[in-house]
Amino acid sequence: MPVQVAENVYWVGAIDWNRRDFHGYTYTTPRGTTYNAYLILDDNVALVDTVAPGFEEEMLSRIAEVVDPARIRYLIANHGEIDHSGAIPAVLEHAPEAEVLCSRKGLDSLGKYFDLPELRSVATGDTLTLGKKTLRFIEAPMLHWPDSMFTYVAEDRLLLPNDAFGQHLATSQRFADEVDSCQLWQEATRYYANILTPFSRMVLRKLDEVARMGIEIATIAPSHGVIWRENPGQIVEAYRRWASGEARERVVIVYETMWGSTEQLAEALAEGAMSEGVEVLLRGLPMADHTDVFGELLEAKGLLLGSATHNQGMLLNVAAFVEDLKGLRFTGKIGAAFGSHGWAGGAVPDLEEALRRAGLEVMSADLAVRWAPTPEELAKAREFGARFAREVRRSLAEATQPHDEAEA
Ligand code: FEO
Repeated sequence: MPVQVAENVYWVGAIDWNRRDFHGYTYTTPRGTTYNAYLILDDNVALVDTVAPGFEEEMLSRIAEVVDPARIRYLIANHGEIDHSGAIPAVLEHAPEAEVLCSRKGLDSLGKYFDLPELRSVATGDTLTLGKKTLRFIEAPMLHWPDSMFTYVAEDRLLLPNDAFGQHLATSQRFADEVDSCQLWQEATRYYANILTPFSRMVLRKLDEVARMGIEIATIAPSHGVIWRENPGQIVEAYRRWASGEARERVVIVYETMWGSTEQLAEALAEGAMSEGVEVLLRGLPMADHTDVFGELLEAKGLLLGSATHNQGMLLNVAAFVEDLKGLRFTGKIGAAFGSHGWAGGAVPDLEEALRRAGLEVMSADLAVRWAPTPEELAKAREFGARFAREVRRSLAEATQPHDEAEA
C-alpha cells in the first residue's frame, strides 16, 4: 500500500527483498533494497522517480490506490540510472500526456536509454508549480551520476534527493525511526563508502550549497531505503563527516592467504596493533564481504593489506579489492603491505604500489616472508603492527591539533 510522507505526498515505490548485488558484484546487498517513487497530489499530479524494471506493476498498483495513473501530469526523473528510470515507459503508457522533466545531463542518459517523447530539462533554481505545491530543482552532479538532481517540495519542507542519503535496506517500514538503528547505520555507512566516497568533494560542496540556500528540511526521502523524518540533520551531518574523511583509531587488516603464512602475519600484525589499544578489524578474503569491509574502512585511519604471491602477483580476491579501493579514492588514510611467497615474490611490492595508486600514504613494513614466517618474523610483524597503530594515533592527533599549536 502507499504510505503518506507529507500532506498529499505518498511513497509509491517497490520493495526488492531478493536483490543481492548492485553495480554488478561490486556492491553486495544482503538486506535487499527498495526503489522509492513519490507521488504528489495537487491540481497537477507529479510522480518523482520510478522503480527498476520488473517492479512496474507494483508501483502502478500503489499509485492506483491513490489516484488514476492517467492523471500524472509531470514525471520528474531525478536520475537516469535504470533502478529509478526503468519504469518511465510503463508510466507513460498509462499517462501518455505526462511530461518528463530531468536535468540537462539527464537529457543524455534518459534520451539514450529510452525512446521517449520530448524531455524538458530543468536547472538549479527552476521551479514547477503544481497548484498549491511548488517543486524546486537542485542539480546534484555526481550524487550519484552527472545527471543527478534533487527535487524539493517547499510547502512540505521535503527533500527528494534520489540516491543521496539512501541505504540498500528492504523493509516493511518506510521511516528511519521505525527500523533497527544498527542495521540502518550499517547500511547507510556501506552505501556512502561504496557509492559516494569517490565524490566526497562534490558532496561537501553540495551540502554547503544547500545550506547557503537556506531551505528548511523537515524530511529527507531518498530513492533507496527508509525516509529520514526525525532529525534528518543526523544523516546530513554523517555525510559531512564521511565526506571530510574524518577517521578514528581503527586499523582494518585485509588479507588473502594460500597456505596460512599470510594469515599468520595478519594475526601477528593484529596482535601488535591491539597491544596499542586501537580498534582492529581482521578481515580474510573471500570470507569477509568486500562491501562490508569498505564500509568499515570508511572511518578507519589505517589499512594493512596482505596477500600470498601467486604467478608473481597478488591473489585474485585481493586484486579485486585493490581495484575497487583505487576507484573509491578514500582520503587521509595510512597503509602498509605484507605477505608471503615461495620460490619468487611479487605480491607485496604490487600491493604497495596499489595502495599508493589508491591515494594512501604508504609505510614500508618490510614484511615479505618466504614460505612460513619464523618466530622472529612473527615478532617483527607484531612490532610493526604496534608501530603502525602508533602512527595512526599520532596522525589523528596531529590532524585535530589546533592550527596555532601545530605551528608553535
Ligand atoms: Fe540508485 Fe545511481 O541509482
